[in-house]
Amino acid sequence: MPSHDMTALADASAAASTVGSEWWRSAVIYQIYPRSFADASGDGIGDLPGVTTHLDDLKQLGVDAIWLSPFMTSPQKDAGYDVADYCDVDPLFGTLGDFDDMLEAAHARGIRVIVDLVPNHSSDQHVWFQEALAAAPGSAERARYMFRDGKGENGELPPNNWESVFGGDAWTRVTEADGTPGQWYLHLFDTSQPDFDWSNEVVRAEFRRILRFWLDRGTDGFRVDVAHGLVKEAGLPDYTPDPESGSMGGDEADVPYWGQPGVHEVYRDWHGVLAEYDGDRALCAEAWLPTIEKTALWVRPDEMHQAFNFEYLETAWDAAKLRAVITESLRAYPAVGAPSTWVLSNHDVVRHASRLALTAENPQGFGIGPNSPGTPIADVGLRRARAATSVMLALPGSAYLYQGEELGLPEVIDISDDARQDPTWFRTKGERYGRDGCRVPLPWDATGPAYGFSPDGASWLPQPAEWATFARDVQVDDPASTLSLYRALLAERRARDLGVSALEWVDGLGDDVIAFHNGNVTVIANLGETPIAIPAGTVIVTSERLTGDTLPVDTTVWLERH
Ligand code: GLC
Repeated sequence: MPSHDMTALADASAAASTVGSEWWRSAVIYQIYPRSFADASGDGIGDLPGVTTHLDDLKQLGVDAIWLSPFMTSPQKDAGYDVADYCDVDPLFGTLGDFDDMLEAAHARGIRVIVDLVPNHSSDQHVWFQEALAAAPGSAERARYMFRDGKGENGELPPNNWESVFGGDAWTRVTEADGTPGQWYLHLFDTSQPDFDWSNEVVRAEFRRILRFWLDRGTDGFRVDVAHGLVKEAGLPDYTPDPESGSMGGDEADVPYWGQPGVHEVYRDWHGVLAEYDGDRALCAEAWLPTIEKTALWVRPDEMHQAFNFEYLETAWDAAKLRAVITESLRAYPAVGAPSTWVLSNHDVVRHASRLALTAENPQGFGIGPNSPGTPIADVGLRRARAATSVMLALPGSAYLYQGEELGLPEVIDISDDARQDPTWFRTKGERYGRDGCRVPLPWDATGPAYGFSPDGASWLPQPAEWATFARDVQVDDPASTLSLYRALLAERRARDLGVSALEWVDGLGDDVIAFHNGNVTVIANLGETPIAIPAGTVIVTSERLTGDTLPVDTTVWLERH
């Protein structure tokens, strides 16, 4: 194992380690989706050496940590969220040595590294699942997954009516070793992603081992995939989801596979494992639950440290609704001793530079494509995205950015059917476009091969021609670019300690306005349809150029507080 140069990290968090000052309470964490970030090997799929190459760019951007979506050994049926070996790197992304090099280089720059852990399910190529298929019903090998006998005279019907999040049945029938049709196994996602049985202590012990494997290498924390799904209600009762609800079922209460109380025991156990290590290692829950109040249960003092604030992500561009969700977040998370987090984009949702300009007839839940109604107007979306991020980065707590949003990238809508890769697209037979539109490889260089993504010009999803105008190299020296805006926001947020300060609402500027003080900054965002007068004052940063003393529509300004 390499010895890490931890000096930069120690400097970055000199005050940490006392309760309340841990780095994750206020960190800005940048999500890297490795296959679309930067490709060093030239095969058209991003990799870990590609990440290492661009760490200086991330340092210059001003983020505190990176979270990498899965790069472990995987047949890539769900872009790596189907893990076949939790303790190795898939050759597509490099080697364990490449991971160690990347982590060391990140730490040397004061950037922490969070790894994505997928505990709800493995790949069907995982050695445990292969052993389960070869073993008999009732065996210890089968007991690590959710195998059940089917219903009907000959077991020909699935054990219950659950549907996969990606569409279709959540059960698949296996053929037994003697060639006869056999038991069924549960997969809340793709057929290739069998769910573990978390009531089995063997599964729990294995994940403690996996946590320690990455913690021993110096990993600063874990983003925990489908953290609300591990434990299923006893008896596996039938359940029919509301077809209008989000694909992760987050809008509904009492789902027999989401948010079961028993899941909290697992995270109390993991909290103890992380606490054995120095450096304030952290767990962040991907848990889609119906209310902020419920999500806060995941971050009680002896459980996880953070949970994604998806309620914030899902809030429309509406001042009253945003004020309400911010108020509730700053009440509910601190009430259990945790920071609120903030997030606007990730690899599962429509990029916010497009989503914020969607119309009511075009819900964002299942992705957008060429035949979706109400194509978002690009200029409106980008303008709102810049204003929305300028609000988010002024809020106390920890914020998540998704790669490419600092370039103002929109969702790519025009991907041809034959280029699509998301299992959602295939499992719903094209009814839902899925998530490919937010996963298109990044443009680094307007004139380079694959816009600087890959040395030979290859790209696993096609990049649109407009990528040239969004490329990092055309933005980096342009003070009006989205990249320059993000850099200014992050620098001021850090310099003014906004992540750890307290928010105070400012009233009287109108219903369509969000206005608050945080530390020595006054933030005003105009979400209405006409410009508003703003108080005289020194402008720190503004999401659009200001002319005169009014704030245009869809614009946010940070002023020196008086
Ligand atoms: C999470 C991931 C998503 C993945 C799913 C199944 O929601 O963010 O990308 O498809 O879990 O692992």
